[in-house]
Amino acid sequence: MDNILVTGVGSYLPKKIILNKDLPPELNTNDEWIRKRTGITQRHVVSKGELTSSMAIESSKNALKNAKVNSKQIDLVILATTTPDKTFPATAVTVQSALGIKNGPAFDVQAVCAGFIYALNVASSLMKTSYYKKALVIGSESFTKILDWNDRSTAVLFGDGAGAIILEKGNNCEGWGILSSNFYSDGNLSNILDTDNGPGMDGRVGKVRMDGKEVFKHAVEKLSSSLVEVIKAANININDINYLIPHQANIRIIDAISKKLNFPNEKVIKTLDLHANTSAASIPLALDVAISNKKIKNGDIIALNAIGGGLSWGASILKYGKPD
Ligand code: ACO
Repeated sequence: MDNILVTGVGSYLPKKIILNKDLPPELNTNDEWIRKRTGITQRHVVSKGELTSSMAIESSKNALKNAKVNSKQIDLVILATTTPDKTFPATAVTVQSALGIKNGPAFDVQAVCAGFIYALNVASSLMKTSYYKKALVIGSESFTKILDWNDRSTAVLFGDGAGAIILEKGNNCEGWGILSSNFYSDGNLSNILDTDNGPGMDGRVGKVRMDGKEVFKHAVEKLSSSLVEVIKAANININDINYLIPHQANIRIIDAISKKLNFPNEKVIKTLDLHANTSAASIPLALDVAISNKKIKNGDIIALNAIGGGLSWGASILKYGKPD
């Protein structure tokens, strides 16, 4: 049977950094509140001309290089984003064209902060059931562009960036690659995290609105339950996991999950302090940082989980890399 291997990861962060203390004074916030309540110290922010597509392209180039795959070999491109360059076409086709990819489809997936888990699930399912051999899966966001900079309860939480991975179909790779995944939505909870408008409503993009306390509560519960489920489906024990990469939204959510599941905090990858919440980009960005820092190595068992607007959430277990 074919396994879907994760053979390369790359990321991109805008050069411009805004420290908590440099946030607009009108927000009436402060470094201490933000650090204590969220764990965030700074965020990268796009500059003029920097787009969701341009960040996606740079992160993809890095992922292709690390996987030693030529872009011409890619036959599937899936981009998770809530901040596409344009309402249409999909930002994925811009990436496809820029990288000279000629084969197969390119499309966007929209599940907000759970977007990368959704894209990973869609890509690996398509690869298992169809002829696609090498996929480029990206999470890229210019999330700061849809923030209401008068709302301190959301504006301080987010940042911009991109992360990409290469998936390859592998023969005789039993036990490697994506071992299990799930994804869920509950539209009854759409009103606790959404935008106040949209292109189909009055032509405007809309700004983020959130009931933080409600999201917090559902995040801890749903991220834990989806993780427990994928651990079981992968037929492993929680102790077999080398690293957990949770969606980087709030340090208190991350710590609550690790406590609830009795999972060692030192095995949890955290990049939230430096990146803030980059929505669909947060997991591949954190994965790339952990690989670059030589924390995550070939053959490590990695757990991923994320939740976002929808609500939408999900988790995945993978054995990173490929057999020597
Ligand atoms: N700076 C200073 N004070 C603030 C700020 C701020 N940035 N934001 C809110 N406050 C104030 C509030 O006005 C309130 O003041 P009051 O007591 O005088 O009324 C006080 O701080 C407490 O506000 P709460 O909303 O109760 O603060 P809470 O402890 O719940 O923290 C937070 C808010 C950080 C948003 C938290 O609820 C949270 O992280 N929730 C989860 C949100 C999340 O993770 N979203 C992303 C996941 S989904 C996705 O990524 C799209």
